[in-house]
Amino acid sequence: MKSVYEILRAKRDGKELSREEIAFLVAGVVSGEVPDYQAAAFLMAAVIRGLSTPEMAALTEAMRDSGDSWDLSDLAPVVDKHSTGGVGDKATLVLAPLVAAAGGRVGMMSGRGLGHTGGTLDKLAAIPGFRTDLDLPRVRRALTEVGAALFAQTDTVAPADRKLYALRDVTGTVESLGLIVASILSKKLASGTTGIVFDVKTGNGAFLKTVPESRALGRALVDTSRAAGREASGWITDMSRPLGRAVGNALEAEESILVLRNEGPPAVRELCLVLGADMLRFAEPALSEPDARRRLEEAFTSGKAAERFAKLVEFQGGDPRVVEDPSILPQPKSRIPAAAPRSGFVRSIQTEKMGFLSIDIGCGRRKREDDIDFAAGFLVEKTVGDRVEKGEPLAILCLGERPAPRPSFERELADLFEIGDEPAAPPALAIEKL
Ligand code: URA
Repeated sequence: MKSVYEILRAKRDGKELSREEIAFLVAGVVSGEVPDYQAAAFLMAAVIRGLSTPEMAALTEAMRDSGDSWDLSDLAPVVDKHSTGGVGDKATLVLAPLVAAAGGRVGMMSGRGLGHTGGTLDKLAAIPGFRTDLDLPRVRRALTEVGAALFAQTDTVAPADRKLYALRDVTGTVESLGLIVASILSKKLASGTTGIVFDVKTGNGAFLKTVPESRALGRALVDTSRAAGREASGWITDMSRPLGRAVGNALEAEESILVLRNEGPPAVRELCLVLGADMLRFAEPALSEPDARRRLEEAFTSGKAAERFAKLVEFQGGDPRVVEDPSILPQPKSRIPAAAPRSGFVRSIQTEKMGFLSIDIGCGRRKREDDIDFAAGFLVEKTVGDRVEKGEPLAILCLGERPAPRPSFERELADLFEIGDEPAAPPALAIEKL
């Protein structure tokens, strides 16, 4: 067996690593024998050189087997959704109670922010008291009593991903099809859910920015899950603009509540109907797609989805009054408009850059140990295709505890919007079913 040093050199030089070499490396990452700097060197070599299909499969398996695998088969079907990451993507907060209210059982193991994208765990942590550190018995109770559970990876489920995910977040090593597949699937397969819907983001705010790249990622996720005995489906969805109006943890928690109360932005609602219908049909295979959609719409309009969220929040230690009164979430200390420098039509938004700007004000981490400023974020007032007049806000900069990191930061925010004379057609939301 090669030493870690030799494995790193081999990957650096574009050689294919064997299953044993990858397993050895992953075991060392988890035990601590492979220090962070060697793990980070491997990640960078993997991003630059790419991972072959056998390497990706070996990495997925080694990461999955780095800890416990939960067995939820007695509660099956337990359905799940996983997004490849975006800006303003709060779909998980809506989908878990929505699909549960419509009759499915939903278990979702979620992550913290990664790169320029926000993480579900950080959004949930904005809700006072909400805990995501559930152990298996508690997840099982949530699934039976509430019909939904939203939880973090425990120390013992896919610990290799936990460690590598945190390192990738701060070492510029996120954008790799192989690393994304291994990261997502190691924890999904270990978490015991039986049906998974993948929301593969595409566009300038996604990790993989073109439809062909996103399609390849989606196919790898769906096919590998099916090969591992899970039901799986996938959608390529638009991330060339932020999803909905809110970007930032408490703002996104609030927007999710508005969507659950049937008051939120149509794009978030529509995405949840598309993904939720697939989730519900894993739970009830006899249901047609239009019937699944109708069931979900009814859960929105009857108030059952919002009620279920209150139940879920309460079960997980949070304050359920947040559903009636989202003002109990951390509130911005100031709101500064980012004004349009000219009149015209919004032609595009630099979405990835918006994600990075959101980190600058405290929505995410630059270093693993950084704290989040939950109240901070942006409200996107105009999106692609909208008409805007000079001086009207394109977005609102919401500052929490921290001051703006640079003078005229709101100008940087406004500069992300390309304004032209001709109207631009807004891109389709659900681009392709895999
Ligand atoms: N979500 C994950 O869990 N991992 C990735 O690498 C990207 C998105």
